[in-house]
Amino acid sequence: MSSPKQRAAAAALAYLKPDTVLGVGTGSTVNFFIDALAAHRDRIPGAVSSSNASTERLNALGIPVLDLNAVGRLSLYVDGADEADPGLHLIKGGGAALTREKIVAACADTFVCIADASKQVSVLGRFPLPVEVIPMARIHVAEALRAMGGNPRWREGVVTDNGNDILDVHGLAITDPVALEQQINQIVGVVTVGLFAGRKADVLLIGEDQGVITIKP
Ligand code: A5P
Repeated sequence: MSSPKQRAAAAALAYLKPDTVLGVGTGSTVNFFIDALAAHRDRIPGAVSSSNASTERLNALGIPVLDLNAVGRLSLYVDGADEADPGLHLIKGGGAALTREKIVAACADTFVCIADASKQVSVLGRFPLPVEVIPMARIHVAEALRAMGGNPRWREGVVTDNGNDILDVHGLAITDPVALEQQINQIVGVVTVGLFAGRKADVLLIGEDQGVITIKP
């Protein structure tokens, strides 16, 4: 018996383009996708990974992990999300992999987001917005986020794959995700904000109890 996350992950295989490199995200839903991808590994030269955790899983299943700089453009990026609004703007970074995820998403022709229905919201912000920061700028960035109406909390004990800290910003109702992403990007010391709005998903696959719903903006 497969779960809604497994069904969404399996449906993403339909977007695979043979003989091209794809990008692979991070998280429990993507883990199902990596497992399903293993049966198709002979159809692709390999994958670009968005985290050390996904790299380990890809390696374990014999899927070659390639350097993004050696590949350039990617035909496809498959990743999960913490929240998705009807316009397919996303909050990501619950697993602290947001920076590499955003880089890989930026290099992909098509971004397919896979999730279960719990991730769908009308307005982003119920899930605390992750912001990756340079460690020495943590207090400075937190004050700037507070001035913007948020309530940032340090995810203590978590260090990203890039050696940075994470602030989780509570209490934001994100009605203009594109503007807020740009505004937070301007704060000195911010590495990445987990709003995927300028580069949002192209397709959202929602796994349900019976099947999968395909949503396009
Ligand atoms: C990782 O940093 C996140 O962006 C994940 O994509 C997100 O947290 C979704 O994770 P799950 O698939 O585990 O819900």
